[in-house]
Amino acid sequence: MKSAKPIAAAVLLTLLGASFSASAYDADWKRGRIYYRSVCTSCHVAMPVGSINPSAKTMAEWSSYIQADKHAKGKDTVKQYVSKSYRASIKSANKAAEKFAEVPDQELLDDIKAFLIKGAKDGEAPASCS
Ligand code: HEC
Repeated sequence: MKSAKPIAAAVLLTLLGASFSASAYDADWKRGRIYYRSVCTSCHVAMPVGSINPSAKTMAEWSSYIQADKHAKGKDTVKQYVSKSYRASIKSANKAAEKFAEVPDQELLDDIKAFLIKGAKDGEAPASCS
């Protein structure tokens, strides 16, 4: 019995550690800003919609926008434009997509979200998109 305890403790610690590292990703808003400006904005400016400033929405609006994941009035998703496969498809012509080619999708999405929230109308540093 006695010898089982340290093992149980070790298993518990490992599990705790794993759940902490999964939830404790510290979003990099600077990387989010680079990606937003280089990938998202570069498409928007080429479209009738034009550039979309982070300061066009509030923090709450950006949170629910990312959560809902309905891009272009629901025609596609935000995630699709953050995905590795999308980055791979444009990386020959887009430096940010090339530079962040291997970043996990969820981390990059968190980075973009952090930038949008920071730059929101009521955010820490309201930002334009360029
Ligand atoms: C390939 C082009 C393209 C890329 C890349 C792109 N968008 Fe868009 N986006 C559009 C178009 C087109 C619209 C306008 C759709 C409309 O009004 O019908 C739009 C609209 C939006 C809107 C306005 C609300 C809505 O969804 O209609 C937001 C916010 C937005 N995009 C965020 C993003 C973010 C964040 C990224 C990058 C992760 C991104 N977009 C990448 C083409 C793009």
